[in-house]
Amino acid sequence: LDELLNEGVRGRRVLVRSDLNVPLEGDLPTLRVTDDGRIRASLPVLRKLTEAGAAVIVMAHLGRPKGAPEEKYSLKPAVDRLSELAGFDVAFAEDVTGDSARERAQALSEGSVLVLENVRFDPRETSKDDAERASFADELVQLTGENGAYVDDAFGAVHRKHASVYDVASRLPAYQGDLVKAEVDVLQRLTTDPERPFVVVLGGSKVSDKLAVIENLLGTADRLLIGGGMVFTFLAAQGHQVGSSLLEEDQLDTVRGYLARAREAGTEFVLPTDIVVAEKFAPDAGHEIRPADAMESGEFGSSGLGLDIGPDSGAAFAREIGQARTVFWNGPMGVFEFDAFAAGTKAVAQALAEATAAGALTVVGGGDSAAAVRGLGFDESSFSHISTGGGASLEYLEGKELPGLTALQR
Ligand code: 3PG
Repeated sequence: LDELLNEGVRGRRVLVRSDLNVPLEGDLPTLRVTDDGRIRASLPVLRKLTEAGAAVIVMAHLGRPKGAPEEKYSLKPAVDRLSELAGFDVAFAEDVTGDSARERAQALSEGSVLVLENVRFDPRETSKDDAERASFADELVQLTGENGAYVDDAFGAVHRKHASVYDVASRLPAYQGDLVKAEVDVLQRLTTDPERPFVVVLGGSKVSDKLAVIENLLGTADRLLIGGGMVFTFLAAQGHQVGSSLLEEDQLDTVRGYLARAREAGTEFVLPTDIVVAEKFAPDAGHEIRPADAMESGEFGSSGLGLDIGPDSGAAFAREIGQARTVFWNGPMGVFEFDAFAAGTKAVAQALAEATAAGALTVVGGGDSAAAVRGLGFDESSFSHISTGGGASLEYLEGKELPGLTALQR
């Protein structure tokens, strides 16, 4: 970004890809942003550009609409929040590259920001067809007029080969935003010679979402701590009964393979030894703590559901994290949205906060995990870095090529 600022942006229209994909709650038409972390994270670049006199056009997505406008996926609530926080003028176009966007872009003055409506309202944004994406990218670029530039600051979307992330970059002088740079720098520190012990904590519901990252971390991480819904596939792979808990039968062989290979690879799996087993999936469900290898031995028998790791496991995970010099965490340990099943996630968050204070590098990856830690009352300073990208940071750790980064390098 500094390179672009040195060239000078006064009077130029700069297209910025931001990640404003924030969680909303409420009923239409009064949806409200529940976690504004991503909006805050996109402000510094917008500030730098507006202060330097650029007219900034922001492209962003929200949710996964099916290529047509849908009110519940409008960026309007996110833009309202952005305006409250910004300290510069923020206008909103009611379409992406239509009349509203064109007129407002034309009239945009130096030091102001225009946010386009959700780019995914146009089916060409996410199209697999190169020509379709190209035609959309051309329309987006036309909004800048003469002498435009492109800044990619949407780390959360760099793993998407979408028009506003990938194709626009080859049509304008393209620059990396400070947020993308900061995220990539920290992930590089995790993957290139991390200070050891390097502990990775993985949670979330599905093991199938984490296969590639586990595969790539075997041999790199010293310990892999597993919690969340995915743990039941691990417990079942070890031959334990898991009642009615989430189980991905089709992944059992793969997980058995990981468990068998781990020791030789130099990575130790740490699985919970106790589980909070509930009667049903509900905030007020009856529950009890059972040994992880005897989940069905309690009151709820084979109909019990594991909804959190138990207190012994929380304490054991905290000890592992306390000994680490580098920690990456993605995915909650249980159904933290329900108070009764939030203790495991809290214990891990607290242990990371203490490890940060003791000088370890601690990285929380992901939209959901980031929202979870903020929702549990932890602030940014409790961790070395809270990533704004869930899928993007995982794909980085998987060692995959990220189209948004490739496009900038090119
Ligand atoms: C995210 O929420 O991880 C990013 O904003 C990307 O969203 P997507 O997974 O819908 O592409």
